Amino acid sequence: MKIAIVNGPNLNLTGSREPQIYGRTDFDTLLSTLRSAHPDVEIVYFQSNIEGALIDFLHSCIGNTQGIILNAGAYTHTSIALADAISAVAIPCIELHLSNVFAREEYRKTSYIASKCIGSISGLGMYGYKLALAYFINAGEDAS
Ligand code: DQA
Repeated sequence: MKIAIVNGPNLNLTGSREPQIYGRTDFDTLLSTLRSAHPDVEIVYFQSNIEGALIDFLHSCIGNTQGIILNAGAYTHTSIALADAISAVAIPCIELHLSNVFAREEYRKTSYIASKCIGSISGLGMYGYKLALAYFINAGEDAS
């Protein structure tokens, strides 16, 4: 099984960026934890600060990836193009946010991608990625 973890803008700085909001763990640490815990799962990681690059990556998942865990960062709240890409690739996708976007600024309560995803996880920090991966492992290819 191949699962893609896709992170949008500014998430490359996680661990040092506003740690009171996003925590002190970086994605290298998370990925080695996930890969050690699930050696049988191919976990592909992609991060970009560029909207089009995220869309191109999602397109590249067609036909070879069983699930996508997507933290679109601020594009969550702005990008119809990213929402369309989730629909276009037709791969089960989980929306993820480290912080609880519903407990923050009003503009973070709008998500263009939520309705295109099978579900959303928000506010559980890095643990959210573990839960999302566990969902795909347990639900298998019938996740959608
Ligand atoms: C975020 C929440 C977004 O509102 C914000 O723009 C981010 C990170 C999160 O993981 O909590 O960059 O997606």
